[in-house]
Amino acid sequence: MIASEQSERAVGRSRAKRVGSQSLGVGLVGFGTIGTGVATVLGRNADLITARLGFPLRLVRIADLDTTRDRGVDLAGIVFDADANALIDDPKVQLVVELIGGTDAARRLILRALERGKPVVTANKALLALHGKEIFEVARRGGVDIAFEASVGGGIPILRSLREGLAANRIESVHGIINGTTNYVLTEMEKGGASFDAVLKRAQELGYAELDPSIDVDGIDAAHKITLLAAMAFGAELTFKEVPTEGIRDVTPLDLEAAQEFGYRVRLLGITKSRRDAKGERIEVRVHPTMIPAESLLAKVDGAMNAIAVHGDAVGPTLFYGAGAGAMPTASAVVADLVELAREVRRGIAGRVAPLSTLPEALVPKPIVPLGELFGRSYLRFTVQDRPGVLSAIAGVLGTHGISIESVSQKGRGYAHPNDPEGARGSVPIVVFTHPASEAAVRSALDAIDQLPEVTAPTRLIRIEEEL
Ligand code: HSE
Repeated sequence: MIASEQSERAVGRSRAKRVGSQSLGVGLVGFGTIGTGVATVLGRNADLITARLGFPLRLVRIADLDTTRDRGVDLAGIVFDADANALIDDPKVQLVVELIGGTDAARRLILRALERGKPVVTANKALLALHGKEIFEVARRGGVDIAFEASVGGGIPILRSLREGLAANRIESVHGIINGTTNYVLTEMEKGGASFDAVLKRAQELGYAELDPSIDVDGIDAAHKITLLAAMAFGAELTFKEVPTEGIRDVTPLDLEAAQEFGYRVRLLGITKSRRDAKGERIEVRVHPTMIPAESLLAKVDGAMNAIAVHGDAVGPTLFYGAGAGAMPTASAVVADLVELAREVRRGIAGRVAPLSTLPEALVPKPIVPLGELFGRSYLRFTVQDRPGVLSAIAGVLGTHGISIESVSQKGRGYAHPNDPEGARGSVPIVVFTHPASEAAVRSALDAIDQLPEVTAPTRLIRIEEEL
């Protein structure tokens, strides 16, 4: 053995001694779909985790209000009751996993754990988007870590990638399909044949959807996630309440068909970009159905899968793809966080990286660019009476607002608007693709057009993103 190998082995031995081989105890609060996945992964891959850490991670205690349902997990040697506070206070529990969701009880439990010096792993994007500032501050003050990889993109290690793998970069943009339920619904609708409600029900049965479907369908879940991504990408404050958010309720099969006809697909995207102009340094943050080129990689993401495209000034374009929901993919991220925190606990090095990548004292409020200042092409679906002269009236208003039309087509005859089948009977949809224009100009044209007597339902705008 050469001298350098000998000394490496000696370092390895002394490190192993320092790290110790005694197990670390994990307490799991919330034994639902993801909690069951976490217990399964910890059991199934125990040998691998021990080999990677140098000591075992042991699930020692679980708390859930439902203590009777059989989850198909071997609970031998694990205390299982409904007392989450007792779990946190249990000296055998050194790492706490919060998987109950919601923002009230979860916030209290996480703060209790952090105040007792116990690191926390959570998948709770809503809680962090709303109360992250307080939670990260308490963690920092106490010198305790909180990890939340599973909160965005399920099993995709996107947060760790942004925080560490891309730490050298000035991030320019993030475009994410970050809600599996809506992607599933849109892609199933694209294939045709199933109603919105039937597809949504299937997504719920498959375990993708939030308890309240409006959290998914109205874009709120994606807004929670893009809030975290924007903070991480740009060192911005968490700004969930200011994130313009539109869901997919108004997207019709006709929009999806028109998109395909013109070389696009519709996806619900979370988008965040940095912008530097005469008004200073600001960020775009938004969630809305978006038409994207059919040949782009994001357009090929089907079903409940998630994908996040990140553009960095040094690395260029990158794409992260994987399962954004479901028991085992989400458990993969939760257990990865446990492994990282366990290593830190053993080495006594909490706070190795700032949770939101930028150190809290360097986080600055970054104003959000108002939607009116966006500039790009739009898809417009007008619902109008089927009579001569209507198209020229619409084109006239667009023209007076400086909006140039790239293409226009009338789809069928006598279409009834799904949200107003009686009132709009006899109406037809006219779809228009515009040349690039400011959204303020488009909005003001639409305000005028929607006042025209021939227009029978509010016009629908879908933004087009060309550069992904
Ligand atoms: N409800 C979420 C989704 C999964 O549909 O993607 C958890 O974030």
